[in-house]
Amino acid sequence: MENTVYKDLIQKAVFAREKSYCPYSSFSVGAALLTEEGKVYTGANIESASFSPTACAERVAFFTAVHNGEDRFRAIAVVGGKKGEAVSEFCAPCGVCRQVMAEFCGKDFEIILFDGKSPKIITLEGLLPESFTKTNMD
Ligand code: THU
Repeated sequence: MENTVYKDLIQKAVFAREKSYCPYSSFSVGAALLTEEGKVYTGANIESASFSPTACAERVAFFTAVHNGEDRFRAIAVVGGKKGEAVSEFCAPCGVCRQVMAEFCGKDFEIILFDGKSPKIITLEGLLPESFTKTNMD
């Protein structure tokens, strides 16, 4: 993908992060998911007083996209850090979000991380090798 596409996705994830609802962790995360057709769906983490219903930014973006009929994805940008502060460290997706990515994406799907300076790009195969997916049940 072109550099400008990565930059645009990172910027959209940074904006989405502003919408985080994270009164318990004070850790805000934003995500921007790019479809094969070039559409972008965003998400931010949404927490709960009972903790376990908390939804990560990545899953909010994925479920919004799938609910809108999307089923082919190219990349997701993820940024996170202390609420109210600029991003300064890479924020890699949690294990549950990796599994959700494996549900809807192939091995070449790209995860774009950003530490405020430069992007780090990892494939889904790199993040979740030897994964269990629907093909295991064929
Ligand atoms: N979080 C995400 O939104 N995405 C991740 O990949 C890692 C963690 C959120 C969940 C929770 O609201 C906060 O970050 C602290 O764990």
